[in-house]
Amino acid sequence: MKASNLPVDEARLWSDLMALAEITDPNKPYTRRSFTPLFLEGRAWLKQRFENAGLATRIDAGGNLIGRRPGAKPGNGTIVIGSHSDTVPSGGRFDGTAGVLAALEVARSLDERGHVLDHDLEVIDCLAEEVSAFGISCVGSRAIAGSLTDEMLAHVGPGGEQVADALRRVGGDPDRLAQAKRSDIAAYLELHIEQGPVLETEIVDLGIVETIAGITRLELTVAGRADHAGTTPMHLRRDALVAAAAIMSALRDLALEMSDRSEGYFVATIGEMHVEPNAANVIAGSVRLIVDARAERRLTMEHFVARLRERMPDVAAQNGAELTAITTLSDVLPAQGDAALCNALTEAADALGLTHRRMASGAGHDAVHFSRIAPAAMVFTPCRGGRSHCPEEWAEPGELAAGAAAMLGAILAIDRGAAKNGRD
Ligand code: GLV
Ligand code: MN
Ligand code: MN
Repeated sequence: MKASNLPVDEARLWSDLMALAEITDPNKPYTRRSFTPLFLEGRAWLKQRFENAGLATRIDAGGNLIGRRPGAKPGNGTIVIGSHSDTVPSGGRFDGTAGVLAALEVARSLDERGHVLDHDLEVIDCLAEEVSAFGISCVGSRAIAGSLTDEMLAHVGPGGEQVADALRRVGGDPDRLAQAKRSDIAAYLELHIEQGPVLETEIVDLGIVETIAGITRLELTVAGRADHAGTTPMHLRRDALVAAAAIMSALRDLALEMSDRSEGYFVATIGEMHVEPNAANVIAGSVRLIVDARAERRLTMEHFVARLRERMPDVAAQNGAELTAITTLSDVLPAQGDAALCNALTEAADALGLTHRRMASGAGHDAVHFSRIAPAAMVFTPCRGGRSHCPEEWAEPGELAAGAAAMLGAILAIDRGAAKNGRD
């Protein structure tokens, strides 16, 4: 990285990141799950930081924490920058928080450098980007895009609480969700750590994201028969967990086939399983598996789901059980980065002497939902060893500051109208 004297305060951004990371379950660093007391503690800290930076804060009906900096020409629309402050269980210190705090740093830096924008600027901490205990991701950004449905609001989580009630608890208002939907966003920019190894391996400062993979999540229900683990002879069993294991292996083979077909990026994972009754001396009577599949191209996803539906019932039957249901939990289409915003980020990176490359994102992001209603783009910064969604996740202070500086440069260009946003 050649750039020095970046127009943002690297040390201040870093100290914010480390301070927010301290708000974690001490027994499970780094954990700040959405809707929990720790999440609200993190939010209270963020709100204070937003206010210290002169931003006017509010929580919208979708539960998003918003800090607003008015522009000189009301009516020009709003430039929104941000990401999310919730984490996966035992996650890292940068996924999401880097984007929220880089956005805050950009707002502070604009003030300190005396930049008055024509556009209003908003820094957003989107609610519950990670799949929460309610089984839904991107609750806040879906609300902003107008796609948080009644069905999603009715999803039940821990203790029988519904998403709608959880939303109320964090300051949102499910009865006035229409107020969260936005039509004033001129541009959305999100900085995020790459969460993969490409930038580090290729020694490139920044990734400009052209496509974000679509994500489809399916729940597979495997039914067997619960019986005594000591007395039921092996040939008489209908073990749902054995069938689930065969399904996992067959699904991996199918995913390998799909990813080898050169139809763009494709991965599929089973990372969640619920076994009933889940006891050492009882043969599993039923198992629910959650499949998380990601494809750069929609057609690839459609092929994958069709093959899964075709093949997996046989796999279950060959292993003495029945695949009784395949339920779609969520189905998000791939998203494209706005060409003009990607160019603005590229030009800003060039002006700072930063190297960059175009890339696709295999991870989901709030930007996907913003892209449905406004021009949106993302800038990725390197992360060590490509590790993410784990406590080892790491990014260097200078790399994050470089990404924030590129975002700042792009915002100035967008504000001047130098980056044509392609939708007006
Ligand atoms: C978000 O972190 C995702 O699951 O891609
Ligand atoms: Mn994540
Ligand atoms: Mn994230």
